[in-house]
Amino acid sequence: MNEHFAMFPEKLIEPCILAGSRAGGIVLDPFFGSGTTGAVAKRLGRNYIGIDLNPSFCELAKERIEKVKTEKGGCLRYAVTAAEERTY
Ligand SMILES: C[S@@+](CC[C@H](N)C(=O)[O-])C[C@H]1O[C@@H](n2cnc3c(N)ncnc32)[C@H](O)[C@@H]1O
Repeated sequence: MNEHFAMFPEKLIEPCILAGSRAGGIVLDPFFGSGTTGAVAKRLGRNYIGIDLNPSFCELAKERIEKVKTEKGGCLRYAVTAAEERTY
């Protein structure tokens, strides 16, 4: 898999991350998809936690984010995980 069906533009999330976190802080996206939030968080020197129901999207996101370079501050730690699907 190398595409996500509903990837959003990085410019859309950038002001939210800048306004809602400090460099070195943590950004959580529980609907991670292709990892746009993580990619922008890393670029802006934020840590991030990404969760997605679909493990294939988590792999896609990890590969994408690995290529991103941090512009400001430092990206200290990050995690990407698949949500456990349960039937209640
Ligand atoms: C609109 S997409 C997010 C796209 C993302 N912003 C991007 O730029 O790639 C929503 C994502 O939420 C995931 N999802 C849906 N229900 C979920 C759940 N209950 N827990 C975790 N992830 C879920 C889907 O697999 C999908 O990848």
